[in-house]
Amino acid sequence: MSSHDNLDAFPGSHKSEREDTGDPTNDKTIPSVIFPPPGPRAQAVIRDHRKYVTDTHAKAPYAFVADHGDGSFVWDVDGNCYLDFATGIAVNNLGHNHPAITRIIQEQAGKLLHYSDADFYTKPYADLCKRLAILAGGDHKVFLSNSGTEAVEAAIKFAKFATGRPYGISFIGAFHGRSAGSLSHTASNIVQRTGFSTLMSQYVHHIPYPDTHQGKYLERLDELEGSTFRRLLNPSEVAYILIEPIQGEGGYLVPPKEYIQRLRRICDDHGILLIADEVQTGAGRTGTMFAMEHFGVQPDITTMAKGLGNGTVIGATISRNTVAKKLTPGTHSSTFGGNPVSCRAALQVLDELKNGVMDNAYFQGANLRSRLHGLRQIYPQLIHDIRGMGLMIGVDFAPKGDDPLEYKDLRDRIVRRAFESGLLTLGCGPSSIRMVPPLNINNREVDIGVDIFEKTLGEIEEIH
Ligand SMILES: Cc1ncc(COP(=O)(O)O)c(C=O)c1O
Repeated sequence: MSSHDNLDAFPGSHKSEREDTGDPTNDKTIPSVIFPPPGPRAQAVIRDHRKYVTDTHAKAPYAFVADHGDGSFVWDVDGNCYLDFATGIAVNNLGHNHPAITRIIQEQAGKLLHYSDADFYTKPYADLCKRLAILAGGDHKVFLSNSGTEAVEAAIKFAKFATGRPYGISFIGAFHGRSAGSLSHTASNIVQRTGFSTLMSQYVHHIPYPDTHQGKYLERLDELEGSTFRRLLNPSEVAYILIEPIQGEGGYLVPPKEYIQRLRRICDDHGILLIADEVQTGAGRTGTMFAMEHFGVQPDITTMAKGLGNGTVIGATISRNTVAKKLTPGTHSSTFGGNPVSCRAALQVLDELKNGVMDNAYFQGANLRSRLHGLRQIYPQLIHDIRGMGLMIGVDFAPKGDDPLEYKDLRDRIVRRAFESGLLTLGCGPSSIRMVPPLNINNREVDIGVDIFEKTLGEIEEIH
């Protein structure tokens, strides 16, 4: 972290490859919403969605129909232009239409689309696993899949198989995905679980996630080691504790360092594996490759997805060799997992992150947070907390001590109003907005985003 210590050294003039190419679009583009959304073309798409798409997606509180993107900007089908602080739910970490990523995808697509490392071998699969294993510390092995939920499924299976233990621990507010195993650990919003009674929930014990904005945290680990382990759940039967280093969907909650460190100690004391779900926090989002680096803690298993492929489908489950050596052929696999196009794109993403993008995420994250703190001074009755690391930033509208659910409508109105003014954001938790811009965002784009957000807050305050 030493390269991040001096914020004064923040270059501001960080050049992404796009800027080096002299592409004028990115330097001049400004958000402009000409056709009040949803415009006529967007309405046609939405009509077909309503008619033909299974009605299971919750959807954002605004209707955005994406057409194309360039850098930190994205256009809808009616030609409206938005600054993208949502990045397709924290996925397009290098922005849209990144020249090097597009080039590598095109090159690999013309060479080989698929050959399945379930039965055969491909070089991009081996190359990506090698790179991720080294990034994780070296004594690791990697399994590749197609999504966050699959990366988590693999982690759960590996931990159960390696320990021979039946139970897992996860957290209230957690989001780990929607497939049967990971959904049993997800406890973010009751609609996600309702109706799915056959899941493996009987093997999962949920404990509260530390929330420094609203309440206590270390006491909760006293409870786990005290009454829970003595009365309810024998730690010798617990295979793993599954935690998001920053709780994402649950509200961008950042746990204190000592909490994660104590969790590591509890795991060590009882032979429990620590699984870090870095599907959202990984791949440079917080200014380091893995968010766990901020806590000085090494997990036994790490999951990645989202930003790793910058929009190509990929999931990764990285296990320490102590875990991996216990896994045997046939215990887990995937036809499509780690297809060559996604692997090549992910390798390019990792190159870009190393070449300044991750540092940019760290410094621009500090820049954006400090600008938001400025807005908090102006609108103290609206903004009650600003938290996050790197470019994973949450803005909370619930005053400390109040029920956050009472502020959901207000939050949704702010998200919608910002959208109408050209800024894409998303909600997280009951009362927060998340801002997850591309990691190569520049000063000018941060300024534009903050200006739109300030205007939005002003308009909301007037009618609040
Ligand atoms: C921490 C975390 N884990 C797992 C998932 C599930 O990922 P996917 O939607 O790719 O299955 C998500 C998605 O938001 C996530 O944030």
